[in-house]
Amino acid sequence: MKPYLRSMSQQLTRQQLIDVAEKFGTPVYVYHAEKIAEQYNKLKTAFAKSDVKIFYACKALTNINILKYVRSIGASIDCSSINEVKLALHAGFDSPNILYTSNGIAFEEIEEAQSLGVHINIDSLSNLEKFGKKFGHSYPVGIRLRPNILAGGNLKISTGHDKSKFGIPVDQVDKIIALVEKHDLFIRDLHIHTGSEITDVDVFVKGIEVLFDIIPLFKELEFIDLGGGFKVPYKEDDSETDITLLAQKVKEAFDNHPNPNGKPLQVWFEPGKFIVSEAGYFITRANVVKETSATTFVSVNSGFSHLIRPMFYNSYHRIENISRPNGEEKKYSVVGNICETDTFAWDRQLNEVQEGDYLVFYNAGAYGFEMSSNYNSRFKPAEVLVKDGVAHLIRKRDEFDRLLANQVEVL
Ligand code: LLP
Repeated sequence: MKPYLRSMSQQLTRQQLIDVAEKFGTPVYVYHAEKIAEQYNKLKTAFAKSDVKIFYACKALTNINILKYVRSIGASIDCSSINEVKLALHAGFDSPNILYTSNGIAFEEIEEAQSLGVHINIDSLSNLEKFGKKFGHSYPVGIRLRPNILAGGNLKISTGHDKSKFGIPVDQVDKIIALVEKHDLFIRDLHIHTGSEITDVDVFVKGIEVLFDIIPLFKELEFIDLGGGFKVPYKEDDSETDITLLAQKVKEAFDNHPNPNGKPLQVWFEPGKFIVSEAGYFITRANVVKETSATTFVSVNSGFSHLIRPMFYNSYHRIENISRPNGEEKKYSVVGNICETDTFAWDRQLNEVQEGDYLVFYNAGAYGFEMSSNYNSRFKPAEVLVKDGVAHLIRKRDEFDRLLANQVEVL
């Protein structure tokens, strides 16, 4: 099958997807291990000339098998909650390869992360103060800064701008330095994450320039963490982050600004989408085809409870009718079966859909299953990993008992 996107040299075939749907039922998320490796290797190749370490931002997809696979191909891991840290440990990552970039968390959680030996980026002055009081110079720590740069696919996924809750605003650097001096903090890295789906590599360069202004103030720095946010294409001719150009610009920037306080700084990145988005497929089945005067609807056996991105971020996911790839093209609105508006795609050209056909959503690996819920008391989908051509069930579909599992019946 011809890859539908230039970046898709590793792609599951329609037949493989149909086989998974037949064997494991739908709705089902399917992940392609070799595609994950391909994406990780693209980064390794692009950044080969610099001292760069890649941390997979596991908030995109935390199935334990994905974490184990990502570890097996050599990546480190970035976590956004203490439970992700524990999953990472469970998957076999060593604590020095686990990064916990927290935001807005209670100090108790930071203490727990410290006790697990992972590297922590702190994002508030108050937690930095508490950390300093308790650990002083004894435990190296990082600071998450807000660079005051607006970038990213849409406002909901932009995190570095001057109204964002994330990080300590870079204009408060005097206060940071005062705390560092007061508690003799060992600041090991400075971190920024400007947003998700950043296509303009100069945004990263701007971020680095903001950091260069303050790097001289931190004498014990060992690395700079530039976060994630690389964009992958979601449709034909869609924009994407030019990783090779980015690598070149990052190298130039650091070559031109040697660390005034000692050894060269290692650069860290935390990509999520880039690593797993294209490796994921979400297969649904057409329940109902409904013709109305204005629109023909296809209702699939899913909803925003399974894939929230189109409704939440207005994001585009390519959809294909894999049951009837040569059918006549018609326009459909693809909707779910949730009891409120849950449109996946408006007026989309698809090969003719008949009830029972399998419709696949592409680029479903990142923030797909991970953001799913049991809304309307629907079951969460199953998950399948295809590795070396073999399909493995890696999460069972919910069963009815699960809906009652944590409820306490008092009446
Ligand atoms: N590092 C930090 C500190 C982050 O906050 C994020 C994403 C990442 C790394 C990874 O970003 P990525 O490379 O995946 O763009 N649910 C949204 C995306 C939210 C991203 C939140 N933070 C979506 O489906 O588009």
